Amino acid sequence: MTDTHRITTTHDEREQLSAKSAITVAGVAGALAVGPFVLLLLLAQAINPNAATASDDLVPVNMVPVAKFELVPAPKGAQSGQQIFESLCTSCHTAGTNGAPKIGTSDWAPRIAQGFDVLYTHAWNGFNQMPAKGGGADLSEVDVKKAIVYMANKSGGSFPEPVDPNAKDGAAVAMPAAK
Ligand code: HEC
Repeated sequence: MTDTHRITTTHDEREQLSAKSAITVAGVAGALAVGPFVLLLLLAQAINPNAATASDDLVPVNMVPVAKFELVPAPKGAQSGQQIFESLCTSCHTAGTNGAPKIGTSDWAPRIAQGFDVLYTHAWNGFNQMPAKGGGADLSEVDVKKAIVYMANKSGGSFPEPVDPNAKDGAAVAMPAAK
């Protein structure tokens, strides 16, 4: 069926399709570029809360070159486990929402005892009130693994840091295989 459709696809339709992908790519690049910039601004304020108010000129002058550097799309795995935790998992795993094991507490002891593979399978696919990937649909396998290791190791575990398959060349963003 798909083949038949492909054969009858007109030139114009194909152009529309490639225009759509171009827009998608631009959107992704934009999000990747803006995200770190916002983080850096927040970080700069956290380090010196007076900097932004005392001298508004300081932030743009210091930040713009860094933001330009960040325009090269970083591999998804470039986020640390702590960053992923703080942007997502914390919403349940800090307060223990819906019975989520709280980070930094003995809640994790029986979880850790199950072994990393069980934790990963449950976090990736979802488990009772734990949503698949913690609800972070765009997280890669290594992202989810890093976040688990971060939480577990803050809570008495000693799992090794997951190996990031994208870290070596830092090339294009590798999309995780559909599951
Ligand atoms: C919407 C709330 C919510 C968010 C967000 C969330 N979790 Fe959970 N998580 C839970 C709950 C609830 C459980 C306990 C499930 C159970 O044991 O029935 C859980 C359990 C887990 C477990 C233990 C599974 C097991 O086998 O014992 C892991 C690992 C885990 N979460 C990882 C993560 C990671 C990593 C993130 C962020 C990427 C995340 N969670 C975000 C609610 C959440």
